[in-house]
Amino acid sequence: MVIDELKKNYIPHHVAVIMDGNGRWAELHGNDRIFGHRQGVDAVRSVVEGAGEAGIEYLTLYAFSTENWDRPKEEVNALMSLLVNAIIQETKNLNEKNVKMLAIGDLASLPDDVQSKLDEAIQSTSSNTGLNLVLALSYSGRWELVEAVKKIVRETKNGELTENQITECLISNHLSTAGIPDPELLIRTSGEYRISNFLLWQIAYSEFYFTPLLWPDFRKENLFEAIADFQCRERRFGKTSEQIRS
Ligand code: FPP
Repeated sequence: MVIDELKKNYIPHHVAVIMDGNGRWAELHGNDRIFGHRQGVDAVRSVVEGAGEAGIEYLTLYAFSTENWDRPKEEVNALMSLLVNAIIQETKNLNEKNVKMLAIGDLASLPDDVQSKLDEAIQSTSSNTGLNLVLALSYSGRWELVEAVKKIVRETKNGELTENQITECLISNHLSTAGIPDPELLIRTSGEYRISNFLLWQIAYSEFYFTPLLWPDFRKENLFEAIADFQCRERRFGKTSEQIRS
């Protein structure tokens, strides 16, 4: 699908992606899992480019979950070095494309070299004004909610907050995505129909798009297909169809 087929005035502000299927892609190609992750970086590059071209404001990529730490040590290490290298190599390209990099998750749990390269990339792209690329790293929705509850309890205990001030808006502002609009569209590749602990609070009213494509085969044209599908949906937010149409 080409970008010109999209309705320009109805592009989602925030698209979140569960990039799944790298391991199966590698197996299909007779190679080891990390080969699949490496090919996944090409998909990331294409989708970031497409998101910028389409005028999406925020693209959040689930790159490493809290649960991914339980994978075999060699795969975790290989993924971490892949991340460092991708971040180093792609920063120049991100700056050329006016992309600002952000990260959410338990970043302190990442190896020191990943943290420092990530910080450098975030700093280096901080004044860019185009697409915001949000990397979810060592992230899970439940982890984030636990952290938010702890913060809110602390602020309540020390008198900064009262119980009546605890609203949906306040909770949103205590999440790692504070200030970022909720995703209107959530994409998952590889034919799995799960949320896998991703953005649990934020996806309350997201539209879900599932594709059988494995992540290394996903390209910006597939992102445009997902957006076109989104553009045909009626979002009712609990109301009736008639209410929405009037
Ligand atoms: C899920 O596939 C994918 C991951 C856990 C890692 C995603 C990482 C990348 C695409 C690499 C680089 C990312 C950036 C942001 C530069 P899987 O391993 O669970 O696949 P499977 O379900 O087929 O085993």
